[in-house]
Amino acid sequence: MALSVGYKRIRTAVFISGTGSNLKSLIKFSKLKKSPLSINIIISNNPRAKGLLYGKIYKIKKRIFNFKKKNLAEKKILEELNKNKISLICLAGFMKILSKNFIKRFEGKILNIHPSLLPKFKGLNTHERAIINKEKYSGCTVHYVNSKLDSGKIIIQKRVKINKNETPKTLAKKILLQEHKLYPAAILKIFNL
Ligand code: GRF
Repeated sequence: MALSVGYKRIRTAVFISGTGSNLKSLIKFSKLKKSPLSINIIISNNPRAKGLLYGKIYKIKKRIFNFKKKNLAEKKILEELNKNKISLICLAGFMKILSKNFIKRFEGKILNIHPSLLPKFKGLNTHERAIINKEKYSGCTVHYVNSKLDSGKIIIQKRVKINKNETPKTLAKKILLQEHKLYPAAILKIFNL
């Protein structure tokens, strides 16, 4: 990755749309001495995202953008990111697909977490599909974002066993717990820490 850790922490934006449990785990991680990053802004498309609460709790700037006009939203987001000197973006349950143009502007500097063992089960309803497909394992993946959905280079993965009688809900819960460890691990890995 074309980023390097000097004395200053990498100024990071986290994009969310919902609960924000991965955001919380990233904020906690950012407070550790070993963390190469600081979380400087939370971006959301959803004014009702529960995770926005973490902005309040941890005193992190938050900004909401209406994606009805996606081009405009992305233009404003880019301005906000520049203003805040952001050099890393972590997508964490962000439910909007960013345009090719936006991704280009942050090439190699956007990460995403996905609740499956990519390349299996890209997109939505991953847990349900893994169970229907009679997979023995599912899991989670942190990857770079490119212009194809859930298809960028894989950084790290964690496997989770699918038990008999597993439901999408129980599987989601188990995997989410692993996600909270995997995102920080991915960040340490890309910075060779
Ligand atoms: C996670 O399962 C993540 O992998 C997926 O959306 C969910 C977000 O959960 N992309 P949270 O908002 O971080 O709690």
